[in-house]
Amino acid sequence: MGTALVTGATAGLGLEFAWQLATARHDLVLVARDEDRLERVATQIRAAAGVRVEVLSADLSVHDDVARVADRLAVTGEDEQDDRRPVGLLVNNAGFATAQHFVGGELETELRAVDVMVRAVVQLTHAAVGQMTARGRGAVLNVASVAALTAGGTYAAAKAYVRTFTEALAVELKGTGVTATVLCPGFVRTEFHDRAGLDMDHVPDPGWLDASYVVSEALADVRRGVVISTPSVRYKAAAALLRLAPRTAVRALGKYR
Ligand SMILES: NC(=O)c1ccc[n+]([C@@H]2O[C@H](COP(=O)([O-])OP(=O)(O)OC[C@H]3O[C@@H](n4cnc5c(N)ncnc54)[C@H](OP(=O)(O)O)[C@@H]3O)[C@@H](O)[C@H]2O)c1
Repeated sequence: MGTALVTGATAGLGLEFAWQLATARHDLVLVARDEDRLERVATQIRAAAGVRVEVLSADLSVHDDVARVADRLAVTGEDEQDDRRPVGLLVNNAGFATAQHFVGGELETELRAVDVMVRAVVQLTHAAVGQMTARGRGAVLNVASVAALTAGGTYAAAKAYVRTFTEALAVELKGTGVTATVLCPGFVRTEFHDRAGLDMDHVPDPGWLDASYVVSEALADVRRGVVISTPSVRYKAAAALLRLAPRTAVRALGKYR
Protein backbone atom coordinates (compact mmCIF):
# COMPACT_ATOMS: atom_id res chain seq x y z
CA MET A 1 0.00 0.00 0.00
CA GLY A 2 3.00 2.35 -0.03
CA THR A 3 4.81 4.31 2.64
CA ALA A 4 3.38 7.23 4.61
CA LEU A 5 5.48 9.79 6.49
CA VAL A 6 3.67 11.42 9.42
CA THR A 7 5.10 14.36 11.38
CA GLY A 8 4.04 14.74 15.00
CA ALA A 9 3.33 11.02 15.05
CA THR A 10 3.72 10.36 18.78
CA ALA A 11 0.53 12.00 20.09
CA GLY A 12 -2.96 13.17 19.21
CA LEU A 13 -3.90 13.31 15.54
CA GLY A 14 -0.47 12.19 14.32
CA LEU A 15 -0.52 9.04 16.46
CA GLU A 16 -4.02 8.30 15.18
CA PHE A 17 -2.85 8.81 11.57
CA ALA A 18 -0.02 6.36 12.22
CA TRP A 19 -2.35 3.67 13.60
CA GLN A 20 -5.04 4.05 10.93
CA LEU A 21 -2.48 4.05 8.12
CA ALA A 22 -0.71 1.00 9.57
CA THR A 23 -4.05 -0.79 9.86
CA ALA A 24 -4.59 -0.01 6.16
CA ARG A 25 -1.21 -1.75 5.49
CA HIS A 26 0.90 1.35 4.88
CA ASP A 27 4.55 1.21 5.93
CA LEU A 28 5.42 4.25 8.04
CA VAL A 29 8.06 6.86 8.69
CA LEU A 30 7.31 8.51 12.03
CA VAL A 31 8.69 11.95 12.88
CA ALA A 32 8.67 13.82 16.22
CA ARG A 33 11.19 15.15 18.75
CA ASP A 34 10.88 12.63 21.60
CA GLU A 35 13.02 9.68 20.47
CA ASP A 36 11.97 7.27 23.26
CA ARG A 37 8.32 7.88 22.57
CA LEU A 38 8.88 7.42 18.83
CA GLU A 39 10.59 4.08 19.44
CA ARG A 40 7.78 2.93 21.75
CA VAL A 41 5.11 3.83 19.19
CA ALA A 42 7.09 2.17 16.39
CA THR A 43 7.50 -1.05 18.40
CA GLN A 44 3.79 -1.19 19.21
CA ILE A 45 2.74 -0.57 15.60
CA ARG A 46 5.22 -3.11 14.16
CA ALA A 47 3.96 -5.75 16.61
CA ALA A 48 0.26 -5.05 16.09
CA ALA A 49 0.13 -4.29 12.36
CA GLY A 50 3.20 -6.06 10.94
CA VAL A 51 4.21 -3.10 8.76
CA ARG A 52 7.68 -1.55 8.33
CA VAL A 53 8.15 1.44 10.63
CA GLU A 54 11.13 3.82 10.43
CA VAL A 55 11.59 6.53 13.04
CA LEU A 56 13.16 9.92 12.41
CA SER A 57 13.72 12.02 15.50
CA ALA A 58 13.60 15.64 14.38
CA ASP A 59 12.71 19.02 15.79
CA LEU A 60 10.92 20.72 12.91
CA SER A 61 11.87 24.15 14.22
CA VAL A 62 15.53 23.25 13.55
CA HIS A 63 16.53 23.74 9.92
CA ASP A 64 19.08 20.89 9.80
CA ASP A 65 16.48 18.49 11.22
CA VAL A 66 13.92 19.53 8.60
CA ALA A 67 16.56 18.97 5.91
CA ARG A 68 17.07 15.37 7.18
CA VAL A 69 13.33 14.69 6.92
CA ALA A 70 13.26 16.30 3.46
CA ASP A 71 16.10 13.98 2.37
CA ARG A 72 13.99 10.99 3.42
CA LEU A 73 11.02 12.36 1.47
CA ALA A 74 13.15 12.80 -1.65
CA VAL A 75 14.02 9.07 -1.81
CA THR A 76 12.82 7.77 -5.19
CA GLY A 77 13.34 4.04 -4.70
CA GLU A 78 15.59 3.89 -7.77
CA ASP A 79 18.91 3.63 -5.92
CA GLU A 80 19.79 -0.06 -5.61
CA GLN A 81 22.08 0.67 -2.62
CA ASP A 82 19.15 2.21 -0.69
CA ASP A 83 16.40 -0.18 0.46
CA ARG A 84 14.15 2.65 1.72
CA ARG A 85 10.90 2.90 -0.23
CA PRO A 86 9.60 6.20 -1.63
CA VAL A 87 7.00 8.01 0.45
CA GLY A 88 3.58 7.97 -1.23
CA LEU A 89 1.69 9.96 1.43
CA LEU A 90 3.11 12.89 3.39
CA VAL A 91 1.10 14.01 6.43
CA ASN A 92 2.37 17.39 7.63
CA ASN A 93 0.71 17.26 11.05
CA ALA A 94 3.16 18.50 13.73
CA GLY A 95 2.07 21.71 15.40
CA PHE A 96 1.48 23.46 18.67
CA ALA A 97 -0.50 26.34 20.14
CA THR A 98 1.46 29.55 20.66
CA ALA A 99 -0.90 30.39 23.57
CA GLN A 100 0.31 33.94 23.98
CA HIS A 101 -0.39 37.40 22.68
CA PHE A 102 2.03 38.58 20.00
CA VAL A 103 2.50 41.96 21.66
CA GLY A 104 4.61 41.31 24.73
CA GLY A 105 4.85 37.57 23.98
CA GLU A 106 8.08 35.62 23.48
CA LEU A 107 9.40 36.27 19.96
CA GLU A 108 11.10 32.85 20.08
CA THR A 109 7.70 31.11 20.39
CA GLU A 110 6.24 33.07 17.47
CA LEU A 111 9.21 32.21 15.25
CA ARG A 112 9.13 28.55 16.29
CA ALA A 113 5.45 28.43 15.30
CA VAL A 114 6.29 29.79 11.85
CA ASP A 115 9.22 27.37 11.50
CA VAL A 116 7.23 24.26 12.49
CA MET A 117 3.83 25.07 10.99
CA VAL A 118 4.88 27.03 7.88
CA ARG A 119 8.56 26.68 6.94
CA ALA A 120 8.80 22.93 7.61
CA VAL A 121 5.49 22.31 5.81
CA VAL A 122 6.76 24.13 2.71
CA GLN A 123 10.16 22.40 2.71
CA LEU A 124 8.80 18.90 3.33
CA THR A 125 6.05 19.32 0.74
CA HIS A 126 8.60 20.50 -1.82
CA ALA A 127 10.76 17.44 -1.24
CA ALA A 128 7.77 15.08 -1.43
CA VAL A 129 6.07 16.44 -4.54
CA GLY A 130 9.38 16.31 -6.44
CA GLN A 131 9.58 12.52 -6.31
CA MET A 132 5.77 12.02 -6.31
CA THR A 133 5.21 13.93 -9.56
CA ALA A 134 8.18 12.14 -11.14
CA ARG A 135 6.52 8.81 -10.21
CA GLY A 136 3.05 10.07 -11.22
CA ARG A 137 1.37 9.23 -7.92
CA GLY A 138 1.15 10.32 -4.30
CA ALA A 139 -0.68 12.58 -1.89
CA VAL A 140 0.08 15.38 0.56
CA LEU A 141 -2.15 15.97 3.56
CA ASN A 142 -1.45 19.20 5.45
CA VAL A 143 -3.07 19.72 8.85
CA ALA A 144 -4.35 23.28 9.26
CA SER A 145 -7.35 24.18 11.44
CA VAL A 146 -10.72 25.89 11.32
CA ALA A 147 -8.70 28.61 13.09
CA ALA A 148 -7.31 29.41 9.60
CA LEU A 149 -10.54 31.38 9.07
CA THR A 150 -10.18 33.39 12.30
CA ALA A 151 -7.89 36.18 13.49
CA GLY A 152 -6.45 34.15 16.38
CA GLY A 153 -2.80 35.20 16.52
CA THR A 154 0.24 33.77 14.74
CA TYR A 155 -1.27 30.28 15.09
CA ALA A 156 -4.29 31.25 12.96
CA ALA A 157 -2.03 33.08 10.50
CA ALA A 158 0.17 29.99 10.13
CA LYS A 159 -2.88 27.79 9.55
CA ALA A 160 -4.27 30.29 7.01
CA TYR A 161 -0.95 30.01 5.17
CA VAL A 162 -1.19 26.22 5.15
CA ARG A 163 -4.77 26.31 3.90
CA THR A 164 -4.03 28.69 1.00
CA PHE A 165 -0.71 26.99 0.23
CA THR A 166 -2.43 23.60 -0.06
CA GLU A 167 -5.17 24.97 -2.31
CA ALA A 168 -2.51 26.51 -4.57
CA LEU A 169 -0.62 23.21 -4.58
CA ALA A 170 -3.79 21.31 -5.51
CA VAL A 171 -4.21 23.60 -8.53
CA GLU A 172 -0.61 23.04 -9.65
CA LEU A 173 -0.83 19.29 -9.14
CA LYS A 174 -3.91 18.80 -11.31
CA GLY A 175 -3.27 16.08 -13.87
CA THR A 176 -0.03 14.86 -12.26
CA GLY A 177 -1.51 11.92 -10.36
CA VAL A 178 -0.58 13.62 -7.08
CA THR A 179 -3.17 15.27 -4.82
CA ALA A 180 -3.10 17.85 -2.02
CA THR A 181 -5.60 18.02 0.84
CA VAL A 182 -5.78 20.41 3.78
CA LEU A 183 -7.44 19.20 6.98
CA CYS A 184 -9.22 21.95 8.90
CA PRO A 185 -10.52 20.44 12.15
CA GLY A 186 -12.23 22.17 15.05
CA PHE A 187 -11.37 21.30 18.65
CA VAL A 188 -10.00 17.76 18.94
CA ARG A 189 -9.24 15.95 22.20
CA THR A 190 -5.44 15.49 22.09
CA GLU A 191 -2.46 16.72 24.12
CA PHE A 192 -2.47 20.01 22.20
CA HIS A 193 -4.23 22.27 24.73
CA ASP A 194 -2.62 20.73 27.85
CA ARG A 195 0.85 21.09 26.36
CA ALA A 196 0.17 24.81 25.88
CA GLY A 197 -1.41 25.22 29.31
CA LEU A 198 -4.70 26.35 27.76
CA ASP A 199 -7.82 26.09 29.91
CA MET A 200 -10.55 24.74 27.61
CA ASP A 201 -13.33 24.40 30.18
CA HIS A 202 -15.41 26.96 28.26
CA VAL A 203 -15.75 24.60 25.27
CA PRO A 204 -18.93 22.49 25.67
CA ASP A 205 -18.88 18.77 24.86
CA PRO A 206 -20.47 19.14 21.39
CA GLY A 207 -17.56 21.43 20.46
CA TRP A 208 -15.09 18.53 20.71
CA LEU A 209 -14.22 15.96 18.04
CA ASP A 210 -12.53 12.59 18.52
CA ALA A 211 -9.13 12.17 16.90
CA SER A 212 -10.15 8.78 15.45
CA TYR A 213 -13.16 10.34 13.70
CA VAL A 214 -11.18 13.33 12.37
CA VAL A 215 -8.42 11.11 11.00
CA SER A 216 -10.75 8.62 9.31
CA GLU A 217 -12.65 11.49 7.65
CA ALA A 218 -9.38 13.11 6.54
CA LEU A 219 -8.02 9.89 5.04
CA ALA A 220 -11.33 9.28 3.24
CA ASP A 221 -11.07 12.80 1.80
CA VAL A 222 -7.48 12.14 0.68
CA ARG A 223 -8.65 8.98 -1.10
CA ARG A 224 -11.43 10.98 -2.82
CA GLY A 225 -9.04 13.81 -3.78
CA VAL A 226 -10.98 16.40 -1.72
CA VAL A 227 -8.95 19.61 -1.37
CA ILE A 228 -10.42 21.08 1.86
CA SER A 229 -11.37 18.52 4.49
CA THR A 230 -13.49 19.80 7.38
CA PRO A 231 -14.75 16.87 9.45
CA SER A 232 -18.26 17.03 10.96
CA VAL A 233 -21.40 18.89 9.99
CA ARG A 234 -20.92 21.18 13.03
CA TYR A 235 -17.54 22.41 11.86
CA LYS A 236 -18.56 22.55 8.18
CA ALA A 237 -21.32 24.94 9.33
CA ALA A 238 -18.89 26.89 11.53
CA ALA A 239 -16.45 27.23 8.61
CA ALA A 240 -19.25 28.42 6.31
CA LEU A 241 -20.30 31.02 8.90
CA LEU A 242 -16.73 32.23 9.35
CA ARG A 243 -16.33 32.60 5.58
CA LEU A 244 -19.60 34.54 5.22
CA ALA A 245 -19.37 36.70 8.36
CA PRO A 246 -18.05 40.26 8.07
CA ARG A 247 -14.35 40.27 8.98
CA THR A 248 -15.06 42.87 11.67
CA ALA A 249 -17.18 40.23 13.41
CA VAL A 250 -14.53 37.55 12.87
CA ARG A 251 -11.86 39.83 14.30
CA ALA A 252 -14.02 40.41 17.35
CA LEU A 253 -13.64 36.66 18.07
CA GLY A 254 -9.88 36.98 17.61
CA LYS A 255 -7.79 35.54 20.37
CA TYR A 256 -4.60 33.58 20.41
CA ARG A 257 -4.80 29.78 20.19
N1 LIG B 1 -6.20 19.47 18.95
C1 LIG B 1 -6.91 20.40 18.33
O1 LIG B 1 -7.92 20.91 18.86
C2 LIG B 1 -6.51 20.86 16.95
C3 LIG B 1 -7.44 21.58 16.20
C4 LIG B 1 -7.12 22.00 14.92
C5 LIG B 1 -5.88 21.70 14.40
N2 LIG B 1 -4.97 21.01 15.14
C6 LIG B 1 -3.66 20.74 14.54
O2 LIG B 1 -3.46 19.34 14.52
C7 LIG B 1 -2.06 19.06 14.49
C8 LIG B 1 -1.74 17.99 15.52
O3 LIG B 1 -2.05 18.51 16.81
P1 LIG B 1 -2.52 17.59 18.02
O4 LIG B 1 -3.75 18.18 18.52
O5 LIG B 1 -2.48 16.18 17.62
O6 LIG B 1 -1.34 17.93 19.06
P2 LIG B 1 -0.56 17.04 20.13
O7 LIG B 1 -1.44 15.98 20.69
O8 LIG B 1 0.05 18.03 21.08
O9 LIG B 1 0.60 16.34 19.27
C9 LIG B 1 1.59 17.13 18.66
C10 LIG B 1 2.59 16.24 17.95
O10 LIG B 1 3.52 17.09 17.26
C11 LIG B 1 4.87 16.81 17.67
N3 LIG B 1 5.62 18.05 17.65
C12 LIG B 1 5.36 19.19 18.32
N4 LIG B 1 6.32 20.10 18.08
C13 LIG B 1 7.20 19.52 17.24
C14 LIG B 1 8.43 19.94 16.65
N5 LIG B 1 8.98 21.13 16.91
N6 LIG B 1 9.07 19.09 15.82
C15 LIG B 1 8.57 17.86 15.58
N7 LIG B 1 7.42 17.41 16.12
C16 LIG B 1 6.76 18.23 16.94
C17 LIG B 1 4.72 16.19 19.08
O11 LIG B 1 5.77 15.30 19.42
P3 LIG B 1 7.12 15.77 20.20
O12 LIG B 1 6.70 16.62 21.34
O13 LIG B 1 7.81 14.50 20.58
O14 LIG B 1 7.92 16.51 19.18
C18 LIG B 1 3.43 15.39 18.89
O15 LIG B 1 3.72 14.15 18.27
C19 LIG B 1 -1.35 20.40 14.74
O16 LIG B 1 -0.87 20.91 13.53
C20 LIG B 1 -2.47 21.28 15.30
O17 LIG B 1 -2.22 22.64 15.02
C21 LIG B 1 -5.26 20.57 16.40
